[in-house]
Amino acid sequence: MCGIVGYMGNREAYGILVGGLHRLEYRGYDSAGVALVNEKGELNIHKCKGKVADLENYAKDKDTDGSMGIAHTRWATHGEPNDINAHPHYSESASLAIIHNGIIENYSVLKEALMENGYSFRSTTDTEVLVQLIEYIRNNNHCSLLEAVRSALKKVVGAYAIAVVEKGNNDEIIAAKQSSPLVVGIGEDEYFLASDATPIIEYTDRVVYIDDGQIAVIRRDQPLKILSLDNEEGSVDIKKLDMSIGQLEKGGYPHFMLKEIYEQPKTIIDCTRGRISADGSSVTLSGVMANKERFLNANRIIFVACGTSWHASLIGERLIEEMCRIPVEVEYASEFRYRNPVINKGDIVIAVSQSGETADTLAAVELAKERGAFIFGICNQVGSSIARATDSGTYIHVGPEIGVASTKAFTGQVTVMAMIALTLAHEKGTVTPEYFSEVIRGLQRLPELIERVLESDGRISELSKIFTYSRNFLYLGRGYNYPVALEGALKLKEISYIHAEGYPAAEMKHGPIALIDSEMPVVAIATADNIYDKTVSNIQTVKARGGKIIAVVTEGDTVVRAIADHCIEVPPIIECLTPILVSVPLQLLAYHIAVNKDRNVDQPRNLAKSVTVE
Ligand code: F6R
Repeated sequence: MCGIVGYMGNREAYGILVGGLHRLEYRGYDSAGVALVNEKGELNIHKCKGKVADLENYAKDKDTDGSMGIAHTRWATHGEPNDINAHPHYSESASLAIIHNGIIENYSVLKEALMENGYSFRSTTDTEVLVQLIEYIRNNNHCSLLEAVRSALKKVVGAYAIAVVEKGNNDEIIAAKQSSPLVVGIGEDEYFLASDATPIIEYTDRVVYIDDGQIAVIRRDQPLKILSLDNEEGSVDIKKLDMSIGQLEKGGYPHFMLKEIYEQPKTIIDCTRGRISADGSSVTLSGVMANKERFLNANRIIFVACGTSWHASLIGERLIEEMCRIPVEVEYASEFRYRNPVINKGDIVIAVSQSGETADTLAAVELAKERGAFIFGICNQVGSSIARATDSGTYIHVGPEIGVASTKAFTGQVTVMAMIALTLAHEKGTVTPEYFSEVIRGLQRLPELIERVLESDGRISELSKIFTYSRNFLYLGRGYNYPVALEGALKLKEISYIHAEGYPAAEMKHGPIALIDSEMPVVAIATADNIYDKTVSNIQTVKARGGKIIAVVTEGDTVVRAIADHCIEVPPIIECLTPILVSVPLQLLAYHIAVNKDRNVDQPRNLAKSVTVE
């Protein structure tokens, strides 16, 4: 995790760096810091525990001059979140400063060796070891900063996106990447660097995504240079960003999460644009069609993902199995990568990730690749590590998701999965023309139907007040809506810190039923589907034990309404698309409960948007 930013140009760097940190704060907010090299060559480092706003406050009366610098917002891995462990870290002689996103796995061996050579350490971080190592090499080999960084990185095992600056040299930043993201922005006589493009977009739309094992040499008034760790020069592939600054602002909403929930009618349009023909007769996903034979002949599809993306994958499993009759498995990427999975020729691995940077998902992709699988990606972040590591893929195109709790990415992922299933089912002839048309009509109507769901926001907000102080929640669903129950529970727990569990409604009687009493709110998803009657029986069982039922039902439902304590309605839609509609009121319920509890909705404690550590 962690966010890194850098600047070199003709402007004052501090404001640009701090502005960039604000944009990257979703990646971690345990501490923040900057290192600036001013025109006199002085290296000034300011850092403190807390958020970027705390850093601004701390640095108010400090020397923040300089047209070159680096900055960091931290999600703690090694070492507790405090002032000393905050980045930038500096070397023994305080001549080098470094920012780092990632983990140096062999840091303790390196640290011991450095201590034997007289080095002492201020912090308990792995990052400080790296900057000391660079200085040690620089002093011993009498080499350039670039050479010292390159040699040090050859001794390092782990993941990193780093940037290093040096006292007395305000013309050079050396940056490098291995398994953590790094983007360089190229402006007019200026350079930016960051963990993703969001701090860069307001200055330039020309970016270079640095690859694993590459070093970016940023020198004033010189073209960007890319080198490998073996000192071979690489090409500088400049890409044009397709993102607007407005997408990164709250646009009048109190939180990014609420903005992103409300954006969903539009993001579904963006996600399906150009993919469903205007007359609704066909769906074309170019990534799938370009690999049509492979998909049609697939023995098995394996989804690998984490968190919300894993929940979306469970829906993908149901969609593909139902429509295409291809066996599907869904794996937690973190489990898959360490359990020697069986991957056969003819298997397709689909990696699902909003950020495209999740370390476990990326590692699962690498493992599946080594074993010869064809890898397909479903990502949101264009140009992200997972998007680039896969053989082919489909972007969900829902725009930047800033709120740490995923909302619009989930509905975008499910929409893409429905389109993948439809594309394949059409080619395989495994669905009737009537079913095909009904799913397409459903996809086309989703934006309007989500608007209708959003009209219940006021009611959901009122409802949330009744349950603000509940200590536990149970979420129940069946079939397509079982993963939605998991996702609803995850949303609530991550932003309100209320314990919540999602369960398949019928499984409840095998254990969790013991938890039910009048203190236990149960969110039951009971939309009109082919197991509606069974779900109603499950709800009756909860009612009989005194549980408080909040039911999500299809408009016009009378049966569940007569049993439940509270009902939230969603419009009717073909069963396989209900998860997209049902997830919206659950996002709103979690949001309002968290706001009532005065939680930091966009930046919940201990979390970060992009989990680039395993
Ligand atoms: C929950 C949430 C996380 C992510 C998970 C995977 O709201 O956002 O559970 O879904 O960390 O992230 P990506 O999709 O970026 O791989």
